[in-house]
Amino acid sequence: MSNRMWGGRFGGGPDDIMEEINASIGFDQRLFAQDIRGSLAHAEMLVKQGIISAEDGASIAQGLHQIEAEINAGEFRFSRALEDIHMNIEARLAELIGDAAGRLHTARSRNDQVATDFRLYVRDALAHIGTQIHTLMGVLTAKAEAHADTIMPGFTHLQPAQPVTFGHHLLAYVEMLSRDAGRFHDAHKRMNESPLGAAALAGTGFDIDRHMTAAALGFDAPMGNSMDAVSARDFALEALSAAAICATHMSRLAEEIVIFSGPAYGFFNLPDAYSTGSSIMPQKRNPDAAELIRAKTGRIIGALGGLMIVMKGLPLAYSKDMQEDKEGVFNALDSISLCLAAMSGMMDALSINADAMHKAAGSGYSTATDLADWLVREAGLPFRQAHHVTGALVALAEKKGCALDALSLADMQKVEAAITDNVFTVLSVENSVASRQAFGGTAPDGVRARVSHWQNWLKENA
Ligand code: ARG
Repeated sequence: MSNRMWGGRFGGGPDDIMEEINASIGFDQRLFAQDIRGSLAHAEMLVKQGIISAEDGASIAQGLHQIEAEINAGEFRFSRALEDIHMNIEARLAELIGDAAGRLHTARSRNDQVATDFRLYVRDALAHIGTQIHTLMGVLTAKAEAHADTIMPGFTHLQPAQPVTFGHHLLAYVEMLSRDAGRFHDAHKRMNESPLGAAALAGTGFDIDRHMTAAALGFDAPMGNSMDAVSARDFALEALSAAAICATHMSRLAEEIVIFSGPAYGFFNLPDAYSTGSSIMPQKRNPDAAELIRAKTGRIIGALGGLMIVMKGLPLAYSKDMQEDKEGVFNALDSISLCLAAMSGMMDALSINADAMHKAAGSGYSTATDLADWLVREAGLPFRQAHHVTGALVALAEKKGCALDALSLADMQKVEAAITDNVFTVLSVENSVASRQAFGGTAPDGVRARVSHWQNWLKENA
């Protein structure tokens, strides 16, 4: 018996375990639509170039459309013995149209075929993820607008540092997400070249038109080196690193949701739709969606590391190792997409406990820097000395167990004679945030200006 795929040279079929380790149909069937699109473009080009007849081209196209309909209807029987999506489709095409099916693979190899399919898939996914990032940016920008004046503690080392507005805090994530969107956009632009027609690795002797297939598939150009075309996976690595960075940003926000929705802070009220209860502790409301976003970041980063490790030792051009590129990418892109959707829904529905935020904003002597700045501005002290004086005033307030603005003027003047009544104007959290007017600061007017910047940006980049 000769092998049904490799024909003459092989006397028998693979061992069952060989079939199991070798087959990719379990996961690469997801590429069926891209595979069919690529084959349609290739067949049309072969006809135009006079490499196959118009009749064969027409029956190939008709057969491929039928296969696509069968797969969409769930009627297609995928076979592990046929290894991958390319062979499954080609074998079915032969059943449907006979010998003409065998002409489709002229001037093509599975190496350029899979590289093309996978690029098309990743390209579409990047565009979709870009749109989802814009949606999340829109949700956060709207919340920031509503909370341009809402005061909360700003933290360093997770200790209250200086008061900020919640709007400003949210817009920090909008900035991060805009760069994430930029990374997906750049990756999309850079990967948009066609491997099709590179054949196995060396190119082909047939008079094909790679510019035609590239254009038909929406690529900007054919890739310029056939060996690179079949072996490059940096497009997938770039997509994964953009996803890993974006997931890392969402994971940090998720961590804050976990912390700030807990009773210790009580800043955020988790929406019912994005939290769960406990089966034993009736008082609980758990931030499961936020925790899962934080956790899924692990598998997304893992997929990047995994594919880097697969690729780093591979000589040119194709090695079967590269079949392992797909599952991690599919999983990571599915995950980032799900995380973006969950984060958008959760942040949209999140409500705020402004009183708890305001109260916490005043704790920890958070306006001490404002006091030091006042001493520089109004009393002419050098900043280092002002820092020292303020430290002494904080120590005094600590000893008395009161806030900075609860110290009497007489007490303050004992520490620094130049202090006047006017100092009380900077000691409130409201005045503190309002004073931070320099570009990029937390002042409510600055937050509102940045909100409109992002609203316009989202409109222009819709
Ligand atoms: N299933 C294979 C993959 O995903 C297709 C390419 C096979 N090429 C080969 N020379 N065996 O990489």
